[in-house]
Amino acid sequence: MAQLWGGRFTKETDKLVYNFNASISFDKKFYRQDMEGSMAHVKMLAAAGILTEEERDDILRGIEGILSDVESGALDISDEYEDIHSFVEATLIDRIGDTGKKLHTGRSRNDQVALDMKLYTRDELLAIRDEVFALTKTCHSLMKEHIHTAMPGFTHLQKAQPLTLAHHIGAYMEMFKRDYDRLCDIYERMNYCPLGAGALAGTTYPLDREMTAELLGFYGPTLNSMDSVSDRDYVIELLNALSIIMMHLSRFCEEIIVWNSNEYQFIEIDDAYSTGSSIMPQKKNPDIAELVRGKTGRVYGALMSMLTTMKGLPLAYNKDMQEDKELTFDAYDTVKGCLALFNGMLKTITFHPEVMEKSAKNGFTNATDAADYLVNHGVPFRDAHGIVGRLVLYCIDKGISLDDMSLEEYKAISPVFEEDIYDAISLKTCIEKRNTIGAPGPEAMEKVIAINDQWIADKAK
Ligand code: ARG
Repeated sequence: MAQLWGGRFTKETDKLVYNFNASISFDKKFYRQDMEGSMAHVKMLAAAGILTEEERDDILRGIEGILSDVESGALDISDEYEDIHSFVEATLIDRIGDTGKKLHTGRSRNDQVALDMKLYTRDELLAIRDEVFALTKTCHSLMKEHIHTAMPGFTHLQKAQPLTLAHHIGAYMEMFKRDYDRLCDIYERMNYCPLGAGALAGTTYPLDREMTAELLGFYGPTLNSMDSVSDRDYVIELLNALSIIMMHLSRFCEEIIVWNSNEYQFIEIDDAYSTGSSIMPQKKNPDIAELVRGKTGRVYGALMSMLTTMKGLPLAYNKDMQEDKELTFDAYDTVKGCLALFNGMLKTITFHPEVMEKSAKNGFTNATDAADYLVNHGVPFRDAHGIVGRLVLYCIDKGISLDDMSLEEYKAISPVFEEDIYDAISLKTCIEKRNTIGAPGPEAMEKVIAINDQWIADKAK
């Protein structure tokens, strides 16, 4: 048992209590951020005249040594310490002697852990944002490739109207762009430094909080010391954004699973992203898509857990807040992994445009266009809707599609139909005439793709 306190205690901590209280098994994950924070703190203490330059240099050299030994594997972060902060301080004192005892001047573990969590979360946010960006680039190139690949669009998982693969992937492109922007928003709001808040009420030392904030890449210091040590809004905001990302991935996975099914055969997931069955030799299963869909639950779980942990906490720090770490870290890792795997899977999918086109031609996806034809010839829309309903019924009865009906058959139901009905309801017309911005027509798609080109160029800067 190695802890930083004990002076006012007359008994040893119970072993079970010690273990229950300790956080080193999971907060060792931010050892780097903890040491970077300490180095900034020490530089500031010296600049403010609280430490001498010699003391500063001794401590900095000591921490740098610990950091590089941990990174090289020469030094193990042992679970015998209470938390990562105790490990670093105790190791420092062990290595450089009494000067190491000055590291924690003007600081509490409360503002220290608030800083570590923020630095770690900021790093993870940026790494996840990179993965989202990579995914938007994959969507963008698939869109460019498939402007003319026809497929059915669905509502209620029933064929509705024809569209294109570019348009369908374009829907996810919009979602992932929003995800990216949401991450940027969170970054803007969270990027203020809590270090210097002390336990809850600041300190009497003349700390230069602007300096530490700047050294650590923050926009500036946080403005209320109680809020600084007890704010985990940014974790909740990020878990919220991550939950939305997972929801988007999960919906896309669901579609990929359906498209990859024996019944649809719109696509084939690459062998490298599929798995087999231990008993059925013919099987090639979409396990990666299913796992991404499945892992959505644990990310939502992390969000609910954090909201619940925080909801009843009086100001300022409470030990409940130590529970901000395990599930949150798991969510960060899960989302990063899912994004990378999903992107790899999407990039390597083989699309079957002939199957999609054939499917788009069946199922009366051009019924709305047949009604629009009548409207363009003076029939009120409601009447046109009724007439086409009768056409569909007639076709179902005969086992044919609208394109297969003779003009006589059309005219028997409505005399308004003429020879040009065939062109008006052809798959090509149905797609290519839909050119209002946001629609699947190629002219509209080209405009959106140009906007996305610019979006990607801006973000790549
Ligand atoms: N391990 C603690 C946490 O994660 C560090 C802060 C400890 N502060 C305290 N007052 N006990 O929250």
